[in-house]
Amino acid sequence: MSNILLAGGAGYIGSHTAAALLDAGYDVVIADNFVNSSPKSVERVEQITGKQIVLYEADVRDADAMKRIFREQKIDAVIHFAGLKAVGESVQKPIMYYRKNLDTVLSLLDAMQETGVNNIIFSSSATVYGEKNPIPYLETMPRGACTNPYSWTKSMTEQILEDAAKADPELSVILLRYFNPIGAHPSGMIGEDPQGIPNNLMPYVTQVAVGKRECLTIFGNDYPTPDGTCRRDYIHVVDLARGHVKAIDYIMQHKGVAVFNLGTGIPYSVTEIVETFERVNGVKVNHVYGPRRAGDLPEFYANSDKAREVLGWQTEKTLDDMCRDSWNWQKQNPNGYRV
Ligand code: NAD
Ligand code: WQD
Repeated sequence: MSNILLAGGAGYIGSHTAAALLDAGYDVVIADNFVNSSPKSVERVEQITGKQIVLYEADVRDADAMKRIFREQKIDAVIHFAGLKAVGESVQKPIMYYRKNLDTVLSLLDAMQETGVNNIIFSSSATVYGEKNPIPYLETMPRGACTNPYSWTKSMTEQILEDAAKADPELSVILLRYFNPIGAHPSGMIGEDPQGIPNNLMPYVTQVAVGKRECLTIFGNDYPTPDGTCRRDYIHVVDLARGHVKAIDYIMQHKGVAVFNLGTGIPYSVTEIVETFERVNGVKVNHVYGPRRAGDLPEFYANSDKAREVLGWQTEKTLDDMCRDSWNWQKQNPNGYRV
């Protein structure tokens, strides 16, 4: 069976993907510098699956360290999750974001080329569609003008990978454009563990519900949407993780560059998320309506027909599942991986 390197695999999406790959019979190696994660997530994945992971504490920007891993582990494909992801911070510290997020892919490609590793899957984002494309987003639409440096690093990394594949016919690239991942493994043993004040909606909701934060501010209720709050395509992280397994199966058989949206295609509003969370879990989420957050689009969601038709992937989990599993994780781990 093939050996897959997850760069940044100790994080939220990486840890769920590790579990899905191990369940599907793949071997998993993780390289992570734990800048936004903990080695505990890797131990938990081993407990969930009953299988071993080879773990390296390494900075993916360190090409020599990556070459050593490729040589020691005989890697068949890389999934590149490693990077910084806080949109607001990227506006404050653009140079750091460009440096860190672009150096990771450049070093990985250097190391892959030198050691003969030819398959890479990249964690891209719906934000590469920019502000102007009509919804639902389709892979055939052009990348748009991004609204913040984080999103530009995703767009630029896609371009870098496409150019690298053009120059090297042996290199295969899959760009996975995630929509809004939420939820957690149904065991409640792994989940999203943001450091400090959460930037994203669901961890904020769960921290209010568990009593760590007083009140959720819903950013704007005067948008041109049915209830006035923004609508997004929330996807259960376990469905997203299964999408990576399908992408690995595919990349082993196909050359070239392929792009896939990974979303449900169904938009839900912020108010619907809060109401569903309260109903499914029987808990209150104190909330108030506040001003709009700069840079938010009123609504976006995926057309995921291509992933269904080409990869044979589709989502299985409902919004109720997403809310239940997010709460199950938060309740069992009120301080995340910290004791
Ligand atoms: P995360 O922060 O939980 O995971 C990223 C992991 O990469 C962490 O374990 C972190 O320690 C590691 N890392 C960061 N820089 C590194 C470096 N230089 N060397 C080694 N390890 C490094 O984030 P996530 O939510 O799991 O996201 C994974 C990927 O998916 C990211 O690239 C993110 O931008 C992308 N993405 C996330 C979302 C989302 O909403 N969560 C949406 C679209 C795309
Ligand atoms: C969702 C909705 C907020 C917090 C971002 C990135 C995107 C991708 C996913 C990585 C919005 C509202 C939020 C709060 C709120 N990440 N909200 N109160 O902005 O759709 O996407 O994360 O690639 O690139 O841009 O996700 O979870 O921040 O917000 O009302 O305290 O919840 O306004 O409508 P977003 P989010």
